[in-house]
Amino acid sequence: MKASAHDLAAILPPGFTMGVATAAFQIEGALDEDGRGPSGWDVFAAMPGSIVNDHSPAMACDHYHRMPEDVALMKELGIDSYRFSLSWPRIQPGGSGPVNPKGLDFYDRLIDLLLANGISPMATLYHWDTPLELDEAGGWMNRDTAYRLGEFAAIAAAAYGDRVVRWVTINEPATVSANGYMLGVHAPGEAHMLKALPSVHHQLLGHGLAMQALRAANVPGEVGLTNVYSPMVAASINPLDKVSAGLMDMAQNRLYADPVLLGKYPDAIRAATFFSSFSPSKEDMELISQPLDFYGLNYYMPTRVAAGPGDGAVPQGMAEAMGNDLNGGGSGTPFHVQSFPDTEITAYGWPIKPDYMAVALAEMAERYPQLPPVYITEGGASFEDLEIHDGEGRLIVPDERRVRYLAEHIEAAIEATAPGGAAESIELRGYYVWSLLDNFEWSAGYKQQFGLLHVDRDTMERTPKASFHWLRELMAARNRKADALEAEPRADKAAEAEAAGNSAAGAEPAGSPAAG
Ligand code: BGC
Repeated sequence: MKASAHDLAAILPPGFTMGVATAAFQIEGALDEDGRGPSGWDVFAAMPGSIVNDHSPAMACDHYHRMPEDVALMKELGIDSYRFSLSWPRIQPGGSGPVNPKGLDFYDRLIDLLLANGISPMATLYHWDTPLELDEAGGWMNRDTAYRLGEFAAIAAAAYGDRVVRWVTINEPATVSANGYMLGVHAPGEAHMLKALPSVHHQLLGHGLAMQALRAANVPGEVGLTNVYSPMVAASINPLDKVSAGLMDMAQNRLYADPVLLGKYPDAIRAATFFSSFSPSKEDMELISQPLDFYGLNYYMPTRVAAGPGDGAVPQGMAEAMGNDLNGGGSGTPFHVQSFPDTEITAYGWPIKPDYMAVALAEMAERYPQLPPVYITEGGASFEDLEIHDGEGRLIVPDERRVRYLAEHIEAAIEATAPGGAAESIELRGYYVWSLLDNFEWSAGYKQQFGLLHVDRDTMERTPKASFHWLRELMAARNRKADALEAEPRADKAAEAEAAGNSAAGAEPAGSPAAG
């Protein structure tokens, strides 16, 4: 394992993008400021009992007021790219109709500052903060929301299309449908269980309409979407366990990837009697399966599945909303999630399995022969970090487990996609660490922390953890290597462009797919 920044830097391919990721609702705060409209999440989080310890997102990381400081910290890290989300209710408060100039201005300043600091902006259009008016009209159960997202994409393209290097239309529709519309543990808090299928289709349609709007605006940046992927592992060789793992795979992975990458829903979905009336039009499927410039994949962990209801099933993606209470929740389900034997877990209870990063990539490569280039758009881990103070009272956060998690997963992804690797056909273009800051972790409030930066909840002061220093070292070692390579004459033009994109000197140019 190459935990040392120097060793890991040696295997980072030329042009490989290293970034950090966040989402608006999790970091910005300022929910009532400068004309932002309410979101479904504002209302959900205010309901007693919906968030661990009733933590409030009102302040989050106060990023809305500390944005320049946070960009300066990213500059210090030396990363290539920053993935953030545009707050839909900040830019278009009602989810349709007029835009809010002050909201537009915030991201305008962010994007300019990133570029001025050599960091390429990757913007996610939808990371779960649906404008409240849309949620009140049915949210993703209502087909109209998809058209509203298409409209929002056009607004964003007109405002930022000249500078955003990479666009993600939607983030993890699986989590929105599972947690928000099946179980009701995320906004908008609806528990339709199997009747939540329209929320899946409408999100994917929203992705298609957003793609269409970005293409119509001729944005020079790359366009894709982000799905979470968890390899499903049968708990034993018992055929019932295998069938259960297959069902989970269908419900959590294929349901969201097949329509986008194959242009159709998995047969099992269409065959299931409870969905027998579900027959999306050819036009919808064409919109959903438009060619992508890249595919964003969030990998956190595999899921071990066994037949039968167990003692209350909480599948992956649903478990995340419930802290490490993997035994709470559902009953009467035909299968359940089990923990992996002898496996280290995160504070959330998620198994730490870097080897399954290769499995995830290999399964993707096998299922989707036309898979476009891939970015790992999120990966990271929550831990109860040790907080110690040095002789002068300064905070030190030695989060070595997070360093190990990141190093092992980045290494696994690179090795799997290198020649001879389990997923060698995949062109892996980058890895974004989740997350820059300890932030508002949805239903887990501030209990589960993924940050490279510790955030003092009273003063909002940011303190770099050991993982921050490690990533900074990794970037410095990578840049030294790139500079040395650049000094050598090279035949391959594309490789030259990649090396230039990787030098700390400048951000990758918009629309240059080779640049890191
Ligand atoms: C989401 C993030 C979330 C992270 C950790 C992903 O599901 O995109 O918003 O904070 O995982 O739970």
